[in-house]
Amino acid sequence: MSDIKKLLVSDLWDMKRQGKKITMITAYSYPQGLIVDEAGIDIILVGDSLGMVELGYRDTVPVTMDEMLMHTKAVMRGVKRAHVVSDMPFMSYNISIEQGITNAGILYKDGLADSVKLEGGQDMAAVVRAIVKAGIPVFGHIGLTPQTAAMLGGFKVQGKSVDQAKRVVDDALALEDAGAFALILEAIPRQLAAIITQKVKIPTVGIGGGLDCDGQVLVLHDMVGLFRRFTPKFVKVYADVYSIQLEAVKKYIGDVQTSKFPAEEHTFTMKEDVVVELRKAYGL
Ligand code: KIV
Repeated sequence: MSDIKKLLVSDLWDMKRQGKKITMITAYSYPQGLIVDEAGIDIILVGDSLGMVELGYRDTVPVTMDEMLMHTKAVMRGVKRAHVVSDMPFMSYNISIEQGITNAGILYKDGLADSVKLEGGQDMAAVVRAIVKAGIPVFGHIGLTPQTAAMLGGFKVQGKSVDQAKRVVDDALALEDAGAFALILEAIPRQLAAIITQKVKIPTVGIGGGLDCDGQVLVLHDMVGLFRRFTPKFVKVYADVYSIQLEAVKKYIGDVQTSKFPAEEHTFTMKEDVVVELRKAYGL
């Protein structure tokens, strides 16, 4: 038995109470799960951003339940400590409450995720309440909600006017009341994120929400420089993994072309008398 203790929802609530910053990042595969868990991250999101950064879709809209389930299972096999959240893809909870409970159940029961996340505020409160009542912890996601960005005028900062900002605060309060255990605040002004963080008892995790959130989340591929189609303003790039991999593959191609690979240490051999007999048998 491993003596590493899994982070529980109650541990995340304690962190907010104690003013300890919560760290969160996405992962989509077994090795990524291993790496971010070993680094000591608190929460791993198997985000539907996998559609863009791993599967090459235009946006997150086409992502399916089957894809989320497969990637959630892979990440779970690599993680010992972090709390793992599985994202509910577009149209897996938007049709009916029953559909939302069924699909949350698949990611939780078959995928073995520790919780699920879905996008939307007041409009989604009834689904969140029902999933929580069924026994599955739910992470809310408000502000810029990428699955429905077309309805928000594109990928734009949300809540800049008083009316819009009040709507985002009401979304946060509705989700807290429905039983969500934490909230992602995406692409909203820092001052609005600070007000929400003060108003709700559950932790807020910002992505483009500024420093006053209880924690921060980034997409792994953005912060290690593996996704280069575009980089949002709220991303800090910590490494250039794309270039590291590109250079490694170029070196490998060169080594094969110039017979530098495989070298002696990468090669299996057999005894000389076996070679002689074999060559004789084949007339070589
Ligand atoms: O899918 C995802 O990666 C997300 C983050 C942007 C929070 O929802």
